[in-house]
Amino acid sequence: METEAIPFARPSIGKEEEEAVLRVLRSGWLTTGAEALAFEEEFAAFLEGPPLPSPAPGKPPLPPLRALAVNSATSGLHLALEALGVGPGDLVLVPSYTFTSTAEVARYLGAEAVFVDLRPGTFHLDPGALERILARLSKGLPPYPQRGGCGPRGRPRALIPVHYGGLPCDMGALRDICRRYDLGIVEDAAHSFPSLIPGADLGDAAGPAAYAGTLGDAGVFSFYATKPIATGEGGMVVTRNQALADRIAVMRSHGIDRTVWNRYTDRGASWYYEVIEAGFKDNFPDLLAALGRVQLKRAPVLLERRCAIARRYDEAFGEERRFLIPPTGGGDARHLYPLRLREGGLKRDEFIRELQKRGIGVSVHFIPLHLMPYYKKRYALEPEDLPESLRAFEQVISLPIWPDMGEDRVERVIQAVKAIAG
Ligand SMILES: Cc1ncc(COP(=O)(O)O)c(C=O)c1O
Repeated sequence: METEAIPFARPSIGKEEEEAVLRVLRSGWLTTGAEALAFEEEFAAFLEGPPLPSPAPGKPPLPPLRALAVNSATSGLHLALEALGVGPGDLVLVPSYTFTSTAEVARYLGAEAVFVDLRPGTFHLDPGALERILARLSKGLPPYPQRGGCGPRGRPRALIPVHYGGLPCDMGALRDICRRYDLGIVEDAAHSFPSLIPGADLGDAAGPAAYAGTLGDAGVFSFYATKPIATGEGGMVVTRNQALADRIAVMRSHGIDRTVWNRYTDRGASWYYEVIEAGFKDNFPDLLAALGRVQLKRAPVLLERRCAIARRYDEAFGEERRFLIPPTGGGDARHLYPLRLREGGLKRDEFIRELQKRGIGVSVHFIPLHLMPYYKKRYALEPEDLPESLRAFEQVISLPIWPDMGEDRVERVIQAVKAIAG
């Protein structure tokens, strides 16, 4: 009997999701409307709600978190940078070890991406490397000293840290550097719903915990098909900065001053609107919002199932196979399970081929962006210019970790890895 292939990822979709989508299909209103609004409110409430402790006594309350649904995390990152005023001549600092969205949004706005290497032994951008690059730029030097100086020139304006695989970055260190160099922060939390960070310092209005995505000027989540909560395509921007939220709300729907839902429900003047900017078409339809609302409700259960798989993998593979050194001792959405391959063992590509032969879906997160033809050429970069990103790329593969895998599939993955690794 042929054994069933195990896909790398698979969304957890049940009856409740089906019924929610059917309800919208039958309602007569498919695009952005009441469902999207409810999803935004529920999403913000989740990130502000229990188990978060209340602010320390004597600290002022934080401004309310606003959530804005968009058609992808890529759009959300773009809108957040746009609202921060990023434009031509500006530099946006990003890890090289990420998906292309994180950097391409800078290029949409005519700004340039500056790649920052990983902190050794982790999947996170290195605050030390960030600081060295910023110090060089502030002296009018190019960001990298290699070959007499390479990389783009310009004015550093924003940082996009990536909470890789759901594991939160050291936001305390990054916020401190960004404050000193006057950089905006847009957290790429595409993988991180939900990653609770115990001990997160919110600075002015400190609370002893916060969710990844709520610690920068804005945070962006993805609902792409493989993500922790999935609607096929979609994303959410969250921010406590009300001016930023207002700008994003207008720019995500063509730069029009009123939403189509508002025009539909305001019978007094339903046809009238004004275009106040040349905006974009980035709104999130109700059909998907209905799906998102159910996934949001199920998020804690889906997280617990991924955590149980990760615990079993940890037990089977041991500490030395893990590349993770949680810098915050914090929560982890467990979107990915990265496995470090043993030095001197099978090389990555061969290891992957062996897993695929056994019907195990596998992926690589990420091919560093400074290796990509477009950026390599544009910024005259060589692979060794960011050695830690290169090392992680060569040593790490991602194993399946989806909520409905079940114990049998998890054990099959473990047996396959053990058989190949010897
Ligand atoms: C780190 C990271 N950022 C951003 C994105 C973009 O997400 P979306 O597909 O929702 O635009 C992805 C998608 O895989 C990602 O992995």
